[in-house]
Amino acid sequence: MAPTNFRTLLIVAAAALTALFILSSSTRHVASNAAHAASIPSIPSIPSIPSIPSLDLNVPSTFHWRTSAHKPPVQKNSTSGEASWYSDWRWLNPFSSSLTLDEERIVLPPLPERPYIYTYLDTTVKRDKQTQEVDKEIIATWRRAWWAKGFRPVVLTQAEAMAHPLYPSLKPKGMPHALEVEFSRWLAWSHMGTGLLADLYCLPMGAYDDALLIHLRRGQFAQLTRFEAIGSGLFAGEKSHIDSAVQDALNDARLSSFNSITDAVKSSLFRVEQPTSIAYYDSGTLQKRYSAIANAILVDPVKGRRHLNKLMISHLHIVWQNTFSSGIEVLKPLPAHTTALVEPSLHLAQLLAECPETLLPSSCPPNNPKCTPCVGSKMRITHPEAFRNASSLYTIATVPHPYTMITLNNQTSDVTIKHIRRNTDRDRWIHSVTRDVLGDGRGAPSRVIALKDAVASEFGRARSLWFTVEHFPPNIAVDITADRVPTNDVEERPVDKTPFPENWLEDIDWHFGFLIPRTTVSHGESMNPVPLPERWSKGQQGVPADKKKSYDPADPTENQQKVEAQLLKKARDAINSKDKQLRLMRDVAEKWNLADLEAWRFVRAFRAQSVMERDVFEEEESAYAGTNGARKGRWW
Ligand SMILES: *[C@@H]1O[C@H](CO)[C@@H](O)[C@H](O)[C@H]1NC(C)=O
Ligand SMILES: *[C@@H]1O[C@H](CO)[C@@H](O)[C@H](O)[C@H]1NC(C)=O
Ligand SMILES: *[C@@H]1O[C@H](CO)[C@@H](O)[C@H](O)[C@H]1NC(C)=O
Repeated sequence: MAPTNFRTLLIVAAAALTALFILSSSTRHVASNAAHAASIPSIPSIPSIPSIPSLDLNVPSTFHWRTSAHKPPVQKNSTSGEASWYSDWRWLNPFSSSLTLDEERIVLPPLPERPYIYTYLDTTVKRDKQTQEVDKEIIATWRRAWWAKGFRPVVLTQAEAMAHPLYPSLKPKGMPHALEVEFSRWLAWSHMGTGLLADLYCLPMGAYDDALLIHLRRGQFAQLTRFEAIGSGLFAGEKSHIDSAVQDALNDARLSSFNSITDAVKSSLFRVEQPTSIAYYDSGTLQKRYSAIANAILVDPVKGRRHLNKLMISHLHIVWQNTFSSGIEVLKPLPAHTTALVEPSLHLAQLLAECPETLLPSSCPPNNPKCTPCVGSKMRITHPEAFRNASSLYTIATVPHPYTMITLNNQTSDVTIKHIRRNTDRDRWIHSVTRDVLGDGRGAPSRVIALKDAVASEFGRARSLWFTVEHFPPNIAVDITADRVPTNDVEERPVDKTPFPENWLEDIDWHFGFLIPRTTVSHGESMNPVPLPERWSKGQQGVPADKKKSYDPADPTENQQKVEAQLLKKARDAINSKDKQLRLMRDVAEKWNLADLEAWRFVRAFRAQSVMERDVFEEEESAYAGTNGARKGRWW
């Protein structure tokens, strides 16, 4: 086809599309979507997708314009259980099916690129079993922390170093052993190429959207970079820089007189940046700031390093708590009958508000000596009805399926179709949740957009965690409600051991980047010097302050909560049921609450995608060092 003809065709096609768009916009539904999409501030203007028109347009017949269209192809690793999704930059649209042409497939934002960060494990020294165990725990801390901040943490060993062509030239240089290990580390890094190289004791210690972490995630380094005052803690660079720096250093005649690689590499090759949100627990720092740990390591390396691991985890946790200084909000829209519904979120919030266990509970991370330790200033937990969009608040929310919401409101599972249509308001859940950000005047489509933004935008995902009722492990709400025996007696009050299954919690650990405490009242083992009563506020003897807060006088009685929990369980079964009558009820509930349904499906798919992302990562890494043996990977 001649270029001019092609251009004409393009112009005609563009004109036809415009006409189509204008025509379809005049149908009420799409027009309101577009108007709402446009009226939400600071959301990038995304072209509204016209629903596939069934209008008989007078388009020239040569166009073969059809009313049906291909569904977008299914992407790799994009289904999990009932959830399926499609990653596309046009995700911030009210209804996914207008893009996927599939009721069930939800459009999610594309997963952000995760830049590589490497650490090196010197596998040439022999380790006993106990040492290996501690190594494993520390590696897990390192991987989890960097993963949660948006990186792709990979553990390298001698295997990668040996794959580098310069490796054979290391030994003949006669360097001190420590320096040789450092060079091996750099060769392994260089073999992998562009990325970050971190020490195992170097952790990201700041908010997800901290400026330095954003810069590091961008993954572009004009020059080899090191960080002020943390020595070999962290480097960044591109393959060509790394290669030439190593080459250069190895050719230096004074090589064996250097103590470290930062001496060996010409300082002019480095650009030096401030390690604002990077914490490095090297031996110097330990001696200076955490001498109890340094001494413990001297006395018993295995035990001491285990204490160090706990200290690092506690600092990651404290920094998270400090980031959300206004506390945790557990959303409880439509509070009358949703106590059991929010119970698991509340429980998770309580675990997050716990003070982490460590030898030095009032210490701060090395890069942030002015932090507010958890002891004496516990996080606030509240349960408002609406989502509040504030950067210092963390939100945890559970989204019910519309059918679940209807049965909870009715307090029985014997609802009729007539009752749903006549007596229930549409999309009550999402209306209530978005009331604070949007007020009362907006329609459902703009509420869905606001909710998706809160769940999945760069800003939102760092500040909130959303589940569907189904995403909590089965019957968790029932378990929690059944087990809790309110008591005013300190002695008799049982330790609230979490009913969350371990593998479920592990996903949450990776989401936050630190091990979440497993009990809500961490009873001090011998190593926790904080006297317990200090953690409880006066006048509420016997029940920890945070527990007390969760008992709202307006809350339903224990008995009512049991009813709710039973209804929840029934609804969960009904949603997955094949029974004809139940399916019909569910369909009616869904059609009646399209916005609530979209929110529920979106949240389900978003969580599933994030779990899947890690599963795929662990699967890929399982053949290499540093992954959890339980996932059938080899250790090294
Ligand atoms: C992801 O997709 C690949 C290729 O389709 C498949 O081999 C792998 O098992 C999937 N991973 C998960 C966790 O589903
Ligand atoms: C529950 O539903 C039934 C009909 O299905 C209706 O008669 C009753 O009023 C509803 N109860 C509430 C509290 O909404
Ligand atoms: C919340 O605030 C951030 C930053 O001000 C903004 O980008 C985002 O769109 C807001 N989200 C909602 C749901 O209003």
